[in-house]
Amino acid sequence: MRCVRCRARPEVYLRAHNAAFCRACYIPWFQRQVERTLTSGRMCTRDDQVLVAVSGGKDSLALWDALVTLGYRTSGLHVAQGIGGYSATSREKVERFARDRGLPLLVHDLADEGLAIPEVASTTRRAPCSACGTLKRYAFDRVAHVHGFAILATGHNLDDEAARLLGNLLRWQTTHLARQRPVLDPRHPTQVRKIRPLVLVSEYETAAYAFLRGIDYVVEECPYAEGATQLLYKEALDRIEAGSPGTKLAFVREFFRSAQPLFAASEPADGAPPRSCTRCGMPAFDELCAHCRLLRVLAP
Ligand code: AMP
Ligand code: FES
Ligand code: ZN
Repeated sequence: MRCVRCRARPEVYLRAHNAAFCRACYIPWFQRQVERTLTSGRMCTRDDQVLVAVSGGKDSLALWDALVTLGYRTSGLHVAQGIGGYSATSREKVERFARDRGLPLLVHDLADEGLAIPEVASTTRRAPCSACGTLKRYAFDRVAHVHGFAILATGHNLDDEAARLLGNLLRWQTTHLARQRPVLDPRHPTQVRKIRPLVLVSEYETAAYAFLRGIDYVVEECPYAEGATQLLYKEALDRIEAGSPGTKLAFVREFFRSAQPLFAASEPADGAPPRSCTRCGMPAFDELCAHCRLLRVLAP
């Protein structure tokens, strides 16, 4: 097989698209996929200031790189989690990426607030990933709100989205299905629009892009890596994809196109909108937001 664009020797083979690309043609192909998701989902325009949540992994750095190359106005946000060497390396990669390209970066260090993940997890007896999720989501909203951003982009890719969709379907979690979409508009004055511009590019496609663009990312997994169930769904989907290339893309794309609107319509206004946390004013479904409930357990 030759590069489908220029007939040169290919470096990237995409069975899902029945295509192969040389380096020079693959990079713009990937960027066009991202651009298409951004425009068809009406995620943002080149006049918006987009805050990109960057973990230091390949997905979020590839996303930041693609957005900048496509001419979007961006700043990075890194949440340092205080997980030993893993967090130190992640922060270093993000800081170097931003410095080398002269891009603005905000770093929110949880340890500065006494909220390093290992300590929070052991004191609250919560699974590290669950405490980490709560603290990260809060930091994303809070930093975006305080700095006046209206849009926050994350690097969730097709594999993440497909595994989440399979999990939601296996248990028929209709409320979750109604809210699983690549653009989530704010439902509270302190919330920002959340966008996932990589939902239609696979983990492999993103890794190939990061590699060919020479992006230096953290390869090491978080020592508390995602739950076994999520990995099981990813493995199952990988097996299906190997036997029937393109299934993952069709699964997610057609869900967004035809099934998701039906779930959204059956859950009027996505359920009750959040109230304001009585302690910090951020969105809450109770008197306190999830973040302040966690703080209460830490310092009753
Ligand atoms: P994960 O939940 O770890 O799969 O990450 C999903 C997305 O969340 C990443 O692609 C990033 O956009 C964002 N993200 C995860 N961890 C961090 C972090 N420590 N700082 C900033 N953004 C993050
Ligand atoms: Fe949050 Fe690992 S515990 S990334
Ligand atoms: Zn709160």
